[in-house]
Amino acid sequence: MERAFALPAPAKLNLFLHVLGRRPDGYHDLQSVFALIDLTDWIDIERRDDGVIERQGDVVGAPEADLALRAARLLQQQTHCSYGARIRVTKRIPAGAGLGGGSSDAATTLVALNRIWQLRLDRTRLAELALQLGADVPFFVHGSNAFAEGRGERLTPIALGPAHYVVIWPQVAVSTKEIFEDPGLTRNTKATKMADFAAAGGDIAALGVSCFGRNDLEAVARRRYPEIDRALAHLAAHGAARMTGSGSAVFTVTRSADAATAAVASLPGGWQGWAVQGLPQHPLLPW
Ligand code: C5P
Repeated sequence: MERAFALPAPAKLNLFLHVLGRRPDGYHDLQSVFALIDLTDWIDIERRDDGVIERQGDVVGAPEADLALRAARLLQQQTHCSYGARIRVTKRIPAGAGLGGGSSDAATTLVALNRIWQLRLDRTRLAELALQLGADVPFFVHGSNAFAEGRGERLTPIALGPAHYVVIWPQVAVSTKEIFEDPGLTRNTKATKMADFAAAGGDIAALGVSCFGRNDLEAVARRRYPEIDRALAHLAAHGAARMTGSGSAVFTVTRSADAATAAVASLPGGWQGWAVQGLPQHPLLPW
């Protein structure tokens, strides 16, 4: 295979996110459940035989910081691969939203180039490289819905039942680092056992989001970004609302696809919203 078109890079939601403590390396120990959803960026990749890595399509922020580009360069360096690639990304997932868009683009790039460059690295090795790009990237490389611990890289696959969500993006971009560094952040949530979560059976549709815990980053984000506070207050009318990652996107679970679509249709101007479904697994998991 020399090229692959329309490769999906799905977004994620953090059904809850607990901050257990600060680590000596500046990161935080977390516990979270990561759920894949069908809001997706699309990536086309073609092999180049001259070693050049070229990035086309939508770019958010500084081109050199682009995670798909950095993923390709890292993989090329680590494997001494002489091939290059043309990578085109079509963005649907907003950046700075806590939806993992940049991380997912990086993961899809790693998984696809592993094939296109015929490298035959296993997922564990790909996930090690992924962690150098960001704490969320290994989750997308492994491709299963997961209970996450450590920086977010210690992953236990879990089965999540089908679920419909409304996701609202209040059009502000949040710096993850800034939220984690806020002096007001609660950093001492007690660790829960994976078994406590598994006991609920992953039945999000029946249980809603509130039974799984909270997002410890939410209070800080609401205070720093009034738009996030307003979006959560708006969604609360449809059920328990929750922020994903460090924001700014917020979500709730609805009973049906129709209810999600209706909630999106009634959004105030200036916000973007999506009616989405949970994915049972990453579409590239069989790769
Ligand atoms: O790994 P990533 O670049 O996505 O993380 C962005 C920032 O978020 C880090 O620089 C760190 O400040 C914070 N972070 C953290 N603990 C985590 C994940 C991220 O403190 N587990």
